[in-house]
Amino acid sequence: MRSTASLRRRILARDARVAVVGQGYVGLSLACAAAEAGFPVTGIDTDPARVAALAAGELCVPGVDEGAFQRGVATGRLDFATGGQALATADVVCICVPTPVRDHTPDLSFVEQACRDVAEHLTGGRLVVLESTTYPGTTNELVAPLLEASGQRVGRDFLLAYSPERIDPGNQEFHFANTPRIVGGTTAEATSVAALFYEQMIEKVVTVSSARAAELAKLLENTFRHVNIALVNEMAMVCHETGIDVWEVIAAAATKPFGFMAFTPGPGVGGHCIPLDPAYLAWQVRRDVGHQFRILEQAQDVNAQMPGWVARRIGEALNEHAKALKGARVLVLGVAYKPDVGDVRESPSLRVMAALARRGAKLSFHDPFVDAIDLDGRRLQRTALTPRAVAGADLVALLTPHSSYDLEWLARSAALLFDARHAIEGDPGNLVRL
Ligand SMILES: NC(=O)c1ccc[n+]([C@@H]2O[C@H](COP(=O)([O-])OP(=O)(O)OC[C@H]3O[C@@H](n4cnc5c(N)ncnc54)[C@H](O)[C@@H]3O)[C@@H](O)[C@H]2O)c1
Repeated sequence: MRSTASLRRRILARDARVAVVGQGYVGLSLACAAAEAGFPVTGIDTDPARVAALAAGELCVPGVDEGAFQRGVATGRLDFATGGQALATADVVCICVPTPVRDHTPDLSFVEQACRDVAEHLTGGRLVVLESTTYPGTTNELVAPLLEASGQRVGRDFLLAYSPERIDPGNQEFHFANTPRIVGGTTAEATSVAALFYEQMIEKVVTVSSARAAELAKLLENTFRHVNIALVNEMAMVCHETGIDVWEVIAAAATKPFGFMAFTPGPGVGGHCIPLDPAYLAWQVRRDVGHQFRILEQAQDVNAQMPGWVARRIGEALNEHAKALKGARVLVLGVAYKPDVGDVRESPSLRVMAALARRGAKLSFHDPFVDAIDLDGRRLQRTALTPRAVAGADLVALLTPHSSYDLEWLARSAALLFDARHAIEGDPGNLVRL
């Protein structure tokens, strides 16, 4: 681009107009943070009901900073639209739309549509940033040509960069502002201006030499987590077969002050990122390199087995107490994929429950964040967590230990307690650990 001086000045003065395309958890968090930093921001979403709710000051996306959202709306720095004018006037456009995986293949149709919408209004001097999780090459090979359909050229007329969102929903220590941000542009100038933009909101920005490196860094992070969870899950299965306490083994290994990072076993992986993101990498390696990313695909297999294994362990626990799983009343605590969030997407708890239901268990559940779930096409409402509900169950399965659960009371009240995450310390006598 001939000169980025004006865009830089506007970013530093925080009067650059920002448009954030996609108002899910990622896009709305960014829009709130940018408004909080002083930028005039428009959050754009194709869902008119979502736009109407947000414009009315109703925070309909769980987990987003309520204070920042309300301040943004109250000061008028944050508004919402379904498209059009806001894209025509924005200096900085960030794309935060979904990137689902269908049949092990990335579905980039939302990114493609968002790029066409941005291209329709693209004029010179802008910065466009893709934040959606995707495989390396997307920004250069898919996003750039779609934006260039506007007649504007990447690097010459506008800047294009990739910056992955790394936010960890529910994490009390690391949030938007103190989680370092990776930025990789399609040109050095794009990297530098995109880094300047994020530095207005985030304490530490790390630049890399290309958009590809930034795209792959995100996939490495989530694949690392996926593979290590599979490693301890497989270790848990081996330990169970050989009569060794996996939790004791992990705690002992974790005393090594270098070269070891403790991961813990559980009923599988869930949420929007860890089960899906590695599929991007596996797909791309198969397509571009022509072979399997073996360790990753094996990790997917191991993690996918876990809900079935946990359901079998619950059956065994009942059996040891002379009860059949068929007809047993099983109360599941925690159906979200991790503690203190209400997200049930890909949640392994639901898979454990489906496996138990297939074997004839009579299921009920409680989760402080989830009112109802769909189980194999059947709607199941939350049960109140009363002394009667706990004492009346043949087995209470603690699958996701939300911090509001009174663990001592549960241990005292349940006839038989299956603890899938080692939430309960000691040996109350009625406890079976994963
Ligand atoms: N949720 C997370 O914790 C998380 C963390 C890191 C990265 N990511 C990644 O960030 C991206 C977005 O995730 P999310 O959880 O915010 O998604 P989401 O599904 O919660 O929300 C996406 C929003 O985009 C809207 N949308 C779809 N197409 C659009 C278009 N063409 N124009 C405008 N709006 C459009 C949808 O209506 C929806 O409101 C994904 O690639 C995801 O993998 C998510």
